[in-house]
Amino acid sequence: MSSERSEGEAATPRWVLGIESSCDEMAAAVVEHGIEVRSSSVHGQLDVHRPYGGVVPELASRDHLRTVSQVAEAALSEAGLSVTELDGIAVTAGPGLLGSLLVGLSFGKALAWRYGVPLVGVHHLAGHLAAAEIAEPELARPYLGLVVSGGHTALYRITDDTAPALLGQTRDDAVGEAFDKVAKLLGLPYPGGPSVSAAAEHGDAKAFPFPRPMQDRADFDFSYSGLKTAVALAVEAQGEGLAAAVPDLAASFQAAATDVLVSKSLRAANAEGLGQVAVVGGVAANTRLREEMAGHGAAAGVRAFFPPMALCTDNAAMIAAAGARLLAQGERHGLGLGAFSRVPLDQAPWAQAQG
Ligand code: KG4
Ligand code: ZN
Repeated sequence: MSSERSEGEAATPRWVLGIESSCDEMAAAVVEHGIEVRSSSVHGQLDVHRPYGGVVPELASRDHLRTVSQVAEAALSEAGLSVTELDGIAVTAGPGLLGSLLVGLSFGKALAWRYGVPLVGVHHLAGHLAAAEIAEPELARPYLGLVVSGGHTALYRITDDTAPALLGQTRDDAVGEAFDKVAKLLGLPYPGGPSVSAAAEHGDAKAFPFPRPMQDRADFDFSYSGLKTAVALAVEAQGEGLAAAVPDLAASFQAAATDVLVSKSLRAANAEGLGQVAVVGGVAANTRLREEMAGHGAAAGVRAFFPPMALCTDNAAMIAAAGARLLAQGERHGLGLGAFSRVPLDQAPWAQAQG
């Protein structure tokens, strides 16, 4: 693997093509000057995976192979650009499903090599955080980053000059994973997050006193497997009456899952002396989480920022934006750049700088 950092800081590159394929979305986007989204094309695979109630890795990578060039072409043509005009190509190198990652990564490397465009590998979570930064110019480092997705639940201190510092993370399931599993228990359609929150709209969040796991501990870690088990037991207890109880179960679960995120984030912000929190990742699309974090945050003197809905779930604009920042720091990766299924945000092995 080759990674090099040139002397001094370069200017932010003008046109960066982002490519993201870490899970079940094939996405490409063009971002100008690291901040203006000129195009963002996302090809989802809900129909491919719905019959199985979750993402099937082999099917995901095969579908990515089928769509990668169309999606990249769509992003370029919507931005009115040809590949030769690009100043950089940013591609997700991990974490994610290995087979899925490899499709976007190989495509990005091939384009970069064929047209002599600088290439940079991006950490998927650095991308999610960049989504908040490009949408909210007032969000300034240092800030607290809460990453909540299907695979991650973690709090980071994000600064300008050092790698992100991990403050706490889930010890078992990710919060998005808990939403997906609870949806299955309740018989709600895939994908779980949006269907649980839709069902919760008609339910009473106080109907079931589900636990708020780890809420009162001094650390900033999370745990979601016990909450999921509590929902499973409540579902069992409903027997034939389950259908009628679904809205209350969904609302009570959603309240428990999001309350912990809000209280731990605000405590971490206070402990770290940070006045801004950015909530990113698929679960940042959850309306209750957005409202509660904004409301309690305002009361605690912590301003909450969220990417717009379209940039919460996986997309490539966030990868292009994070990549533009790395390119401006002088980061360049060679054709030896590999894909990594598991890799902490603060230790991306392919990068020297991973802001
Ligand atoms: O960031 P993302 O698109 O992919 C990963 O990197 O994991 O996040 C997907 C996760 C899924 O678990 C999905 O159920 C959850 O985000 N999600 C939601 C909502 N929309 C998506 N969870 C709760 N409420 C939502 N509205
Ligand atoms: Zn993601």
